[in-house]
Amino acid sequence: MKASYRSLDVRGRRVLVREDLNVPLKGGEIADDTRIRAALATLGDLAERGARVIVMSHLGRPRGRQPELSLRPVAARLAELLGCPVAFSEDCVGEPAERAVAALADGQVLLLENVRFHPEDESDDAGFAARLASLGEVFVNDAFAASHRPHASVVGVARHLPAYAGLLMLAELEALHRALDEPRRPLVAIVGGAKVSTKAGVLRHLLPRVDALLVGGAMANTFLLAQGKEVGASLVEPEAVETARSVAAEAGAKLVLPLDGVCARRAAAGEPTRVLAVDAIEPGWMVLDIGPATVGRFKEQLVAAGTVVWNGPVGVAEIPEFGAGTRALGQAVAASGAFSLLGGGDTAAAVRALGLDGFSHVSTGGGATLEYLEGRELPGVAVLREAG
Ligand code: 3PG
Repeated sequence: MKASYRSLDVRGRRVLVREDLNVPLKGGEIADDTRIRAALATLGDLAERGARVIVMSHLGRPRGRQPELSLRPVAARLAELLGCPVAFSEDCVGEPAERAVAALADGQVLLLENVRFHPEDESDDAGFAARLASLGEVFVNDAFAASHRPHASVVGVARHLPAYAGLLMLAELEALHRALDEPRRPLVAIVGGAKVSTKAGVLRHLLPRVDALLVGGAMANTFLLAQGKEVGASLVEPEAVETARSVAAEAGAKLVLPLDGVCARRAAAGEPTRVLAVDAIEPGWMVLDIGPATVGRFKEQLVAAGTVVWNGPVGVAEIPEFGAGTRALGQAVAASGAFSLLGGGDTAAAVRALGLDGFSHVSTGGGATLEYLEGRELPGVAVLREAG
């Protein structure tokens, strides 16, 4: 495991912390502050222990300076949640940042403007990384969710400063390690989402580790197609049929596919729905959620599970008519007593929108968690190991 900053005496020291405060915005408002809340443990602890806390993050994918992607509203929310003022600097490097850092007293927190307003962040420009690093004396990477990005604020600064893992980073890595490397068995994976092609790496990495692989979402249609079934108007990926076939062959009895689906003619709210068995899907109908027989079959696996890893909703969960499968599985996972880890892509957002809780760990990572589940080393984590 990476070295934690907790062993350091941080009082009076300038600690540069990379967080992932890339929150969804709607009409200029923060639509979901989960990632800000997830950063509080490290930031609150550093402030409490007298560090001068300098926080950097990206927000969205700006091209140059885009005012609507300013982190200023995030500073306000962070202040509310931390219960102390959070200063804000109009730029993450140069004179404004240096002035704001110089004004910090022990225990105070500063948020720097969006690091991606400078394209040099994403190109991991050496000069830019040095300018960022010059603001601090110690670097803490707490941005697990951005750790698949080899950017200056994630990896570049670690070449200039002693680098440590933050509490969120450690919690994320610990949960992933526990679920994948030392699982209480049986280890059951639920993989959903639209496409086999984007999940092939996850499926292949998980297969040798899991005891059962439950596949739902539109990607299950491609597996059904690979078995020669008619899937009506369902979303499928003809070009991924071969991949599905080879994953199924490798998985053997571990693979658990849907028995039935909640179907409609269109993926829209208010559409009439029917439950159809997977070998009786009619022309013009599309599978948009797993059906009750599938929920029952999946639940049998989940009740007995020691560990559950879940990536991807099993239906079009944002439309109420097609959210019942994801909801039922979420409830079954939470009730199972298994160590449960959710993350990657839309999973966390889907369970939050459905009001589900009771999981052991819900990862803040989208792409980062997906890459971890593919067995890839995350550059932002690797750099901590090198430094540690
Ligand atoms: C995410 O939301 O997954 C992370 O913040 C990374 O964002 P990015 O895909 O724009 O690099």
